[in-house]
Amino acid sequence: MRKPYVILNAAMSVDGKIATRGGDSALSDEEDWKRVHNLRSQVDAIMVGINTILLDDSKLTSKEGKNPIRVVVDSKARTPPNARVVTVRPEVETLIAVTRKAPQERTSNLQKKGVKILVCGDGENVDLELLLKKLYDLGVRNLMLEGGGNLNWGMLSKGLVDEIRIAISPVIVGGIEAVTLVEGRGFNRVSEGLNLELVSSENVGSCLVLTYRVLRESKRENS
Ligand SMILES: NC(=O)c1ccc[n+]([C@@H]2O[C@H](COP(=O)([O-])OP(=O)(O)OC[C@H]3O[C@@H](n4cnc5c(N)ncnc54)[C@H](OP(=O)(O)O)[C@@H]3O)[C@@H](O)[C@H]2O)c1
Repeated sequence: MRKPYVILNAAMSVDGKIATRGGDSALSDEEDWKRVHNLRSQVDAIMVGINTILLDDSKLTSKEGKNPIRVVVDSKARTPPNARVVTVRPEVETLIAVTRKAPQERTSNLQKKGVKILVCGDGENVDLELLLKKLYDLGVRNLMLEGGGNLNWGMLSKGLVDEIRIAISPVIVGGIEAVTLVEGRGFNRVSEGLNLELVSSENVGSCLVLTYRVLRESKRENS
């Protein structure tokens, strides 16, 4: 399948959380934010799940260089028309990926605000393979996936992620309800998990940034 090259990027606590139980996701420091903004300026699109928009009201803009297309994965078109991803820098394109089940009134309210609606399937959730194909057809060759945990699972479990960059922040926040890097159903056995290869590790401010390549074949199958 033709699809953009996908880099999953996140800031995570040492205990694997990407937000606290109260929804506080400020795990990066200033230096790491610079790295994130730099990466944003190098990709054609940034993508997040609707919960991240509802909880963080993210603008998804870059402070450095060009601004990529913003993509929200939002089956039922719950993105508020006054969300910052819609209203801030309206000249930067925002695409909302929905399913055919999204209420027409909501999609047309968003379209009136200048947002483009991409219909991806007629199931309960956005068909992520179809979305990536549509983005590729629109010219998106590399895409930064910025969470949250449920969308990360949706993308990883379908084998759609090529690279992972994790900024590990030197903090532990705990909490059974705190969102982890990857949520969803999960794999039953370690042998079913996605194998990764460490490409680099570097200190960025107070964070340790690990870059992994996602291996397509399972190393364990051969061992
Ligand atoms: N530290 C970091 O780097 C970082 C980065 C990003 C987010 N976060 C944090 O992560 C938290 C939100 O994460 P989250 O896991 O609750 O939500 P999320 O991943 O942002 O959004 C998940 C939602 O996306 C929609 N969706 C549509 N199609 C999907 C598909 N095929 N697969 C998966 N999801 C699909 C679903 O809602 P519908 O059914 O309504 O479409 C789903 O509930 C926030 O607290 C945010 O602050 C942290």
